[in-house]
Amino acid sequence: MESFSLRPKEISDDLRKTVVGQDDAIREISVAVVKHLVGHPAPNILLIGNSGSGKTTLMRAVEQFLTSRAGLSRFANVIRINANVLAEERQGYGRAVLGRLFANAKARLGPGGALDDILQAVERGILFIDEVDKIRGDVRGQPNVRGIVAQEALLTLMENENVEFDVDGQTYAVNSSGILFVAGGAFEELYESVLRRATIGQDVAPMKPVVVVSASGEVREELPFHMGDYLKYDDLFRYGMTPQFVSRFESIIVLNDLAESDLARIFVEPDGSIFRTSRAYFQRFGIDLQITRGALIAIAWDAAQQKRLGARALRETFRRVIRNLEFDPVDSGAGIITVDENMVKKAIDSREAGTASKR
Ligand SMILES: Nc1ncnc2c1ncn2[C@@H]1O[C@H](COP(=O)(O)OP(=O)(O)OP(=O)(O)O)[C@@H](O)[C@H]1O
Ligand SMILES: [Mg+2]
Repeated sequence: MESFSLRPKEISDDLRKTVVGQDDAIREISVAVVKHLVGHPAPNILLIGNSGSGKTTLMRAVEQFLTSRAGLSRFANVIRINANVLAEERQGYGRAVLGRLFANAKARLGPGGALDDILQAVERGILFIDEVDKIRGDVRGQPNVRGIVAQEALLTLMENENVEFDVDGQTYAVNSSGILFVAGGAFEELYESVLRRATIGQDVAPMKPVVVVSASGEVREELPFHMGDYLKYDDLFRYGMTPQFVSRFESIIVLNDLAESDLARIFVEPDGSIFRTSRAYFQRFGIDLQITRGALIAIAWDAAQQKRLGARALRETFRRVIRNLEFDPVDSGAGIITVDENMVKKAIDSREAGTASKR
């Protein structure tokens, strides 16, 4: 057996450079990818997490890791699609998934790539399916035909040992049951329904309140709720995912909501973060953009108030702070612009007053 030195920890260390928090999801994916690459059975993974919590970012990071790492490209045949594509009759799931895995493998193996090797790479592919919650089988009590079609298409791929697909007029057949599937979606409404079930103790022991003492000495009761502790397959069936489909995801991971400290890190740390990108813009004018700790905390705090947006809220907050300076980058004389807490507070206040700051 060919030795394979990649360890899950190496993948997770790399993913952590781009993805903040979400340790459970990172670890689970890292192990599954290694298992899959060495040919061990690996669980299909379903990522559930609020909008802006990092699902797409995580999938992209894994894809990036697998395609950029020297020595891996021979093993890793990975594509990322939006679940909606699977409902497109014109394209058909065969072409959308297998055709793309085929094209990918062909490109990687180069002009000398033998057909057998290409087909083997298709069978050992990794498929990221984003926005999988959009293919629910019913929406507000009405059947959603496109969703049902797409779930069936995926199911066919997940369990079928002989699927045909066409590429450039040629028909090929593969066993697609060995493809690794990683799907992700926000599943809005799921949170509410699981919380309701956990609160009344339906099918589970009801949540027990815990006593919390605040800094001012005030005592109150809180219900600790993390959806992952209570989520059952039944909740996903009720949401409109078919049992056959969803039960093929042996591993379901609920992503964490991002805390203020995570948001602050997301704002500055990853390559391509909002702050790094902005700095690069100002550098073009010979200006060094800096930010005080107070400003950073204020931006993260403001973003955390906009719960439904997750980390996307950071962008909106920062735009308010920076847009005048982007138009007219005037520095204080030493080639430095420092974003301070005051500037952030002013920008936030201008929103609250309903008067967008002057452009
Ligand atoms: N955990 C995270 N680590 C690093 N960046 C993150 C994280 N979560 C979100 N972001 C940032 O916020 C933006 C939105 O994140 P992302 O697209 O991953 O959200 P999502 O979970 O896929 O949301 P949706 O359900 O709306 O598709 C990205 O630009 C990314 O930079
Ligand atoms: Mg997304």
